[in-house]
Amino acid sequence: MTKIAPSILSADFARLGEQVQALEATGVDRFQVDVMDGRFVPNITFGAPAIESLRPLTRLTIEAHLMVQPPEDFIERFAKAGADTIIVHQEATPHLHRAIEQIHHFGKKAGVAITPSTPVSTLSEVLGSVQLVLVMTVNPGFGGQEFIPETLSKIRQIRNAIQERGLDCEIEADGGINNQTARLAVEAGANVLVAGTAVFDSKEGVSAAIQGLLESCA
Ligand code: DX5
Repeated sequence: MTKIAPSILSADFARLGEQVQALEATGVDRFQVDVMDGRFVPNITFGAPAIESLRPLTRLTIEAHLMVQPPEDFIERFAKAGADTIIVHQEATPHLHRAIEQIHHFGKKAGVAITPSTPVSTLSEVLGSVQLVLVMTVNPGFGGQEFIPETLSKIRQIRNAIQERGLDCEIEADGGINNQTARLAVEAGANVLVAGTAVFDSKEGVSAAIQGLLESCA
């Protein structure tokens, strides 16, 4: 079953608590916090205190997408702030396996993300250790970008590897997801769609936007 993970990168930062609570009413099971450090990506967004503030407001699963370098320096803080899933970038550390072990040490689900230029083969040694692979379908750093269709083959490769190895691992497609691209990502094998602009910039409101995304790939 396809799930939507709204990214609060495109939410109204002046009303973040309200917007997260509005998500809870839509039936999603999670939302994603795009953490950017201005070093791994050319933008700065949320720190651990933002998750600390949101945690008591919602029972939703909080995914912390760490676009930071090195992620090992931040895993403990985001775990203690209340993130349920911590996603690190393959490109952001030479010690990816250790970073994944660190996430599990704090009792959290581990995810690994790859940017559009990173081959799927870089994940072969950790695919069996993570609960989620996030395939960036845009270059990380900003919401509202165009979907990169060349990334679809990477989603297919990961889906095939998960099936061949009998793994229990979600595949998220993240970036440029809208009513046209959602179906492409799902047909390639993604089962979770991360969407910011398509959800929060929609004139019909977050609930109708999420419903529309789900219907577009049904
Ligand atoms: C990029 C961010 C975005 C965000 C979704 O670093 O990770 O992909 O989650 O942005 P939209 O849905 O606006 O493309």
